[in-house]
Amino acid sequence: MSVVEVKGLTKNFGNICAVKDLTFQIEKGEILGYLGPNGAGKTTTIRLILGILKPDRGEVRLWGDGVSKEKLSRVGALMEQDGLYNRLSCEENLRYWGEIFRMSRNRIEARIEELLEHMNLSERAKESVKNLSKGMRRKLAIARALMHDPELLVLDEPASGLDPEAQVMIRETLAKLAKEGRTILLSSHNLSDVEKIASVIGIINKGELKFFDRMEKVKKMERGLVRIKVDDIDKTRRAIRNLVENIEIENEWLTVAIKEGIDFSDLISILTSSGVRVEDVMREEKSLEDLYLEVING
Ligand SMILES: Nc1ncnc2c1ncn2[C@@H]1O[C@H](COP(=O)(O)OP(=O)(O)OP(=O)(O)O)[C@@H](O)[C@H]1O
Ligand SMILES: [Mg+2]
Repeated sequence: MSVVEVKGLTKNFGNICAVKDLTFQIEKGEILGYLGPNGAGKTTTIRLILGILKPDRGEVRLWGDGVSKEKLSRVGALMEQDGLYNRLSCEENLRYWGEIFRMSRNRIEARIEELLEHMNLSERAKESVKNLSKGMRRKLAIARALMHDPELLVLDEPASGLDPEAQVMIRETLAKLAKEGRTILLSSHNLSDVEKIASVIGIINKGELKFFDRMEKVKKMERGLVRIKVDDIDKTRRAIRNLVENIEIENEWLTVAIKEGIDFSDLISILTSSGVRVEDVMREEKSLEDLYLEVING
C-alpha cells in the first residue's frame, strides 16, 4: 500500500488549470523531490493532498483511504505561509500544536525542548514569534511540522529563507527521518538540495506531471560525455567508433558522447583490449539541473 496515492487529480481555478490529471504514488520511506517552475502547480498539489482544496476530478488516498481527520493526524505539513501565531512565543506555538494533536503533557514538553535545541532556537524559546527573523520563523515552522513525529511529512519549500548551515541541517534531518521509515513530499526550487536527498523525482509544468522516476534512474540517465586521455589517438578512434556518437580531439584528450545502451565500462574494456593505454578519464554526468531544464524546456 502506498503512503500517498494521487489518481487523475485535476483542479481548475476559473479558466486556469492548476493541476491536470496528476497520477503518482509515494511509497513508505521515500523522499519525493517535487519540482517545477513558479505557478506549475506544486502548492496546489500539496493543498489537494492535505484536503485543504477539493479536486474537480480525481482522488487522493493516504495509506489506502480517502483524506480524513484520522489520516491527517499522521501527517506533518509545512505550507508556503508558515501559519505561526505571532503573539505566542516559540514554545507556546509548539505547545499549542502538541495539544491539537493530543500529545501527552510530558511528551509535549520533551519534544519542545528537543526540537528547539535541534533548530538552534533554544535561546529564543520564550520570545514572541513576531520578533524572529524570517529564517528563524521557517525553522520554527519546520519544528512544528515535526512536533507529533508524523509518519508522512508534506513540506512546501521548507528551506526557503534558510542560511546555508540551516539548509544542511534540515536536509540531514529529512534524510534521517526517511531512513527511519518516514515518508516525505518535498517541494523545492533548490535542485542541488533535492539531488542530495530525494529518492524519487517528480517534475510538474503548467499543471502536468512531466517526469516521475527514481533518483537512481536519473543518475543513470547521464549517457553523457566522457573525456579520455590516451597514448594513441588513432588506435582509440578505431577501437571505439561503434560505441560513440561523436569524437572531439584536443591535444591528447578525446571527448566522446557514448551511444545509448552502451556502458561506460564497455568503452574502457574495449580500449584496454585493443592495447590502448588509458592515462586519465573524466566523466561529465548529467545533473538534476540538466534533466530539469530538458523536461521544462523540451
Ligand atoms: N486560490 C487560487 N485562486 C486562483 N488561482 C490560483 C489559486 N491558487 C493557485 N492558483 C493558480 O494555480 C496555478 C498553480 O499555482 P501553485 O501555487 O500551485 O504553483 P506553484 O508550483 O506552487 O508555484 P511557486 O513555485 O511559485 O510556489 C498558478 O497559475 C496560480 O496562479
Ligand atoms: Mg508554491
